[in-house]
Amino acid sequence: MPDSSATIEAHLKEARTFEPPEAFRQQANVSDEGVYERARKDPEGYWAWWAEQLEWSKKWERVLDWTDPPFAKWFVGGKINASVNCLDRHIREGRGDKVAFHWEGEPGDTRTLTYSELKREVCRFAAGLKGLGVKKGDRVTMYLPMVLELPIAMLACARIGAAHNVVFGGFSPKSVGERMNDCESRVLVTCDGYYRGGKTIEQKGRADEAAAAVDAFDKMVVVKRLDGEAKLQEGRDVWWHDLVEGKPDDIEAEAMDAEDMLFLMYTSGTTGKPKGIVHTTGGYLTGTFATTRWVFDTKEEDVYWCMADIGWITGHSYIVYGPLTNGLTQVMYEGAPMYPDKDRAWAIAERYKVNVLYTAPTAIRGFMKFGGEHPEKHDLSSLRLLGTVGEPINPEAWMWYHEKIGGTNCPIVDTWWQTETGMHMITPLPGVTTTVPGSATKPFPGIDAAILDENGDEVGAGKGGFLAIRKPWPSMLRTLWGEDERFIETYWSKWDKKTYFAGDGARKDKKGNFWILGRIDDVLNVSGHRLSTMEIESALVGHGSVAEAAVVGASDPDKGQAPVAFVILESGSKDGADLRKTLNQHITEEIGPIAKPREIVVVPDLPKTRSGKIMRRLLVDICEGRDLGDTTTLADPDVPKEIKDLYEERAAKTA
Ligand code: WTA
Repeated sequence: MPDSSATIEAHLKEARTFEPPEAFRQQANVSDEGVYERARKDPEGYWAWWAEQLEWSKKWERVLDWTDPPFAKWFVGGKINASVNCLDRHIREGRGDKVAFHWEGEPGDTRTLTYSELKREVCRFAAGLKGLGVKKGDRVTMYLPMVLELPIAMLACARIGAAHNVVFGGFSPKSVGERMNDCESRVLVTCDGYYRGGKTIEQKGRADEAAAAVDAFDKMVVVKRLDGEAKLQEGRDVWWHDLVEGKPDDIEAEAMDAEDMLFLMYTSGTTGKPKGIVHTTGGYLTGTFATTRWVFDTKEEDVYWCMADIGWITGHSYIVYGPLTNGLTQVMYEGAPMYPDKDRAWAIAERYKVNVLYTAPTAIRGFMKFGGEHPEKHDLSSLRLLGTVGEPINPEAWMWYHEKIGGTNCPIVDTWWQTETGMHMITPLPGVTTTVPGSATKPFPGIDAAILDENGDEVGAGKGGFLAIRKPWPSMLRTLWGEDERFIETYWSKWDKKTYFAGDGARKDKKGNFWILGRIDDVLNVSGHRLSTMEIESALVGHGSVAEAAVVGASDPDKGQAPVAFVILESGSKDGADLRKTLNQHITEEIGPIAKPREIVVVPDLPKTRSGKIMRRLLVDICEGRDLGDTTTLADPDVPKEIKDLYEERAAKTA
């Protein structure tokens, strides 16, 4: 278990509790606690009730097939199309002229799309994709920043039954190539470049590099975002605007089986190879639709802003599918939150009169650092509800969010979930739940979460254990792309094949509130983004100057966790600023800048057991300044002390 007892003690002493404000409760979509009991008594009936609120071209025959766990099938026999539920349905119900997206570019340019316009763009691009030979069941990869073409391309895939595979725009070309090869994707949608932090970031060259690494690369579609002229490769590349030229405004939507794949999203696992999380259509839409409605308490007239990047699951579920199936008006922003000034985010929130805001603890801590005077410059009185996701939120940041952004009268929903779960799993219902800073509170109605010990027995109140989900839920991952065995092994083998192991440690207090303690495997959570220690280690060892490497996550005041690398050099390589620069550059190329270690400590040896296993735990203790304790089981018991000195020397230099 993670040794976060100090944190949890601090949390448990957290006496402040916040009831839903009366005015909020009055207008809330749910204010009756009875929903928990109703869902518990008849989970299938409850999920079917949600699914019935979507549009199906053929109704399901069976809500759930759980006869071959852990392979679940939801809404068996049903036919549905995601883009129809995000677009056509609203237009038919009279929301055609309603704004779907208020988009704002970093330089200040804007673009607004109504639901009718969004549908037109989606259909044109869908027709364009078909023209490129994309067929039902194919995988299309996107390597795009926060431009409207990204959700358009995703919905276009959904319309024709192709699965999308979005790779975060800041990942390295190598990561894109790897993912495309893994899922045998031949088409890449990218752009010439984009604006970030006052600079233009070149993307086309990076996409070219990715394409060069793909075995069966076929076509590249390039969005024109910058003024310059990017070079297109003849026969392979096409501008987005040329591709959609003259295409029809409406094309028929493919009736998809409820269990057809909607998308793939790669995420870091405990080994170097990323896992392709597979989400299917009917259940995923049901889960994201339901949680958006109840957790974000959305109303017809709401303006909603999720600050996440669509390149992560948060953007898939809570920018694209959840909000659009609910017919919401959203804000989408391309750039950095401090550009041109530290109040940019609040200027946007004021301009569009945002009612519901969803962001991450790392962003909140960043805003806190900028200072409370920045939000104070703006009228944020339109805000009704605030949300957070991605990592445990420290009570200090929670309180700041509550006071400075929410003006003390907005409930905060701290939502725990994962790429794998697809939807919020542990979260307050803002009109029902009494919140406590730092706790994600209770499982969403219909979700059976528990804290288990090694044997699968539930642990008592206040005790740490493994976070588990004991019943299937509609938006659960169905498998890992091409790796059924790894799927079973990673998530369903700790106890029995019907109990999902989330990979997080957690505790439940006497009131039934869940406190997430963080990952218990070798996964880092850097600014709310998952990275595997193995991935960074293999990148380091892949560089000629490094013989061995061990990477751990150290707690970090800004990022939540930050990678720290301990490396043994090859003979002939020299420690120094040049080496650090080279290694950082190398990691950026291999994975992306997000994976750059906070410190690279050159060491003569690593703490290993006699059987040669690296004791990463000890390295974590060193980074956290904890006592080293008994090291006698190590091959060389003196190594940790030596590393500790080197680490402290290094940390003092960086500070
Ligand atoms: C962590 C992001 C505490 C957790 C949606 C989980 C959280 C991992 C919270 C999933 C939260 C996410 N409180 N920890 N509210 N939300 N996590 O797949 O460790 O990028 O397992 O999904 O983030 O990260 P992922």
